[in-house]
Amino acid sequence: MEPKTIKKIGVLTSGGDAPGMNAAIRAVVRAGFYYNLEMYGIYRGYEGMINDDIKKLESKNIAHVLERGGTFLKSARSAEFRTPEGRQKAFDNLKKHGIDALVVIGGDGSLTGAHLFYQEFGIPAIGLPGTIDNDLSGTDSTIGFDTACNTAIQAIDKIRDTATSHDRLFFVEVMGRDAGFIAINAGIGSAAAATLIPEKKMPIEKLVERLKARKKAMKQSNIVIVAEGGKSGGATEIAEKIKKQLPSYDIKVTILGHLQRGGSPSSFDRVLASKLGVAAVEGLMQGKYDVMAGIINNKIVFTPITKAIVDDKEVDEDDFRIAKILST
Ligand code: F6P
Repeated sequence: MEPKTIKKIGVLTSGGDAPGMNAAIRAVVRAGFYYNLEMYGIYRGYEGMINDDIKKLESKNIAHVLERGGTFLKSARSAEFRTPEGRQKAFDNLKKHGIDALVVIGGDGSLTGAHLFYQEFGIPAIGLPGTIDNDLSGTDSTIGFDTACNTAIQAIDKIRDTATSHDRLFFVEVMGRDAGFIAINAGIGSAAAATLIPEKKMPIEKLVERLKARKKAMKQSNIVIVAEGGKSGGATEIAEKIKKQLPSYDIKVTILGHLQRGGSPSSFDRVLASKLGVAAVEGLMQGKYDVMAGIINNKIVFTPITKAIVDDKEVDEDDFRIAKILST
């Protein structure tokens, strides 16, 4: 597509926050300044677009944000943006400020919004994958995923100390919505006794067998990682089922929850976010619209948003096999 002349870019973060979003915003804004563009921060995601919570950004706004968790632009899940009236209000506000392109940092819902907006109003938009869930196609890793895995693993290490001291069986629930990426990494990285992910069914009887075998093998501690979106329920439900079958076990449940969304981004996420931030601005200038910038095999790749959001990225079969080998 023939590139439109772009002078003013608006950047926003939307949906669940993720460590590295600040680093991505900084890179977008810095790259914009490098190319002599005016940069605007849209606060609270699409809500801010609708409510005209839009401010011109200066260099000082992005000083010392790269290393901070969360998003200084704040984030929200906007119900109003899902309505045509909400999107019209948002468009009118962008026009008022003369914003002629957008960088949307968020997960599948946020990128869907950017796609719809581009279809309806023709505002050039590029998405950046910002979610701890890693459930977007078109990139090997999403911004925030690596940090979330590190956070989960560090927390599980601590749980292991107390689990070992008391000979207890722990069920630890990790986030990921309906994807098992955090779970499988946490399982491999923390030597879990088993990892339950939404993509693979593990019958309760099999888990019981595995736990019995580990007892026989005199394993010191048992930690089972449960992805939150599993069809047989979360950690609490699974623990209750196991308790019925293994009543002599001392069982505890820990739900890691939003802990996984916070914290200073890892070096991996900082670099990923920085590369993608620059790619977003350069992509817009080259006329790449309605796409998500990602990194595959260390190369920047632009994938149509409609393809990136399709729910077809799956936990690697090999990762699952490795987790199984290492837990027996
Ligand atoms: O998409 C990121 C995520 O943290 C998911 O892993 C989780 O299911 C969801 O967001 C939680 O959303 P909220 O913060 O709105 O409760």
